[in-house]
Amino acid sequence: MRIDILTVLPELIEGTLNHSILKRAQDKGLVEIYLHNLRDYSTDKHRRVDDYPFGGEAGMVMQIEPIDRAICSLTAERHYDEIIYTSPDGEKFDQPMANTLSLNENMIILCGHYKGIDFRIREHLITKEISIGDYVLTGGELAAAVMCDTIVRLIPGAIGDEQSALSDSFQDRLLAPPVYTRPAEYKGWKVPDILLSGHQRKISEWQHEQALNRTRALRPDLLDE
Ligand code: ADE
Repeated sequence: MRIDILTVLPELIEGTLNHSILKRAQDKGLVEIYLHNLRDYSTDKHRRVDDYPFGGEAGMVMQIEPIDRAICSLTAERHYDEIIYTSPDGEKFDQPMANTLSLNENMIILCGHYKGIDFRIREHLITKEISIGDYVLTGGELAAAVMCDTIVRLIPGAIGDEQSALSDSFQDRLLAPPVYTRPAEYKGWKVPDILLSGHQRKISEWQHEQALNRTRALRPDLLDE
């Protein structure tokens, strides 16, 4: 998989890409992630990428030209399955969407900023608009980082134990059951006996029941859907 991220603030994402599973997946050659500074595609001598909106409202709008130049330079090299724009208006990002996106070969993620981007980019260049939740971020960089992290960990081989990606919360619309490690007792707080029993079938049943109970109590909407 290859992900190209277009942004005016690459520094905001860089740290996320260079740690933990995202870094390991890149080191293993499972994913290539490239950050492109949109200012490098500006023809303005001050490297500006925004301008005042037509119609005179407050706030700045990202210009069409640097974004089009950046996207065209990438699409001239290879086919992209999706050209994604991060926006609070977009389709809500969730685990099923991450699963689908993890099957893609090449993706571009355009991070929004300022008041928005020239609408013609959304009409003519973007194939998918994604929101990570019903709140407004300062820019799309954190959304892009969240999406990359969620998608890359689903690529086979990205995490050590593939089974553990499948048993994540939400993967089967259930929250994950509680997990414990040694010591089996701490300050009198005990790990449930069943987990120490060695009886694998009973343990699995207990875990499923816990997952159901936690989902019913904390996220009943997941069961309704
Ligand atoms: N940009 C600003 N807010 C956002 C959100 N909630 N999701 C994705 N991109 C955004």
